[in-house]
Amino acid sequence: MLAVQTDGSEIETMAREASILGRIQEAFRQHHGLQCQFVGPVSSLAIIDLLRHHPLETDDKIREALSGNICRCTGYENIVNAVRELASKRGPLR
Ligand code: FES
Repeated sequence: MLAVQTDGSEIETMAREASILGRIQEAFRQHHGLQCQFVGPVSSLAIIDLLRHHPLETDDKIREALSGNICRCTGYENIVNAVRELASKRGPLR
C-alpha cells in the first residue's frame, strides 16, 4: 500500500496496542509461534484486527487473516495455535 492510499484512514501502530501486543507475544511464546520475528509485527496487527472484529473465528478464518504474511519459519500452524488460544481462552481483544 502506498502512503497516499491511507489518506482519510485511521492508522494504528504497535505502540498504541502495547497491552494487547503483550498478550499476543505471550501466546506466540507459549506455542512457539515465531522464530526470527520477521513476520511478528505485521502478523500481530492482522491478529488484532481479526480478533477485534471476529473474536471466535475458525482456523480457516485465522489462516485467511494471516495469509498476507509469508512466514518461512513456522509453517503457520504454531501461529494459528496461538491465535486460537487467544480467541478461546482470553476473550475478545479490546
Ligand atoms: S518467524 Fe521467521 S519468517 Fe515468520
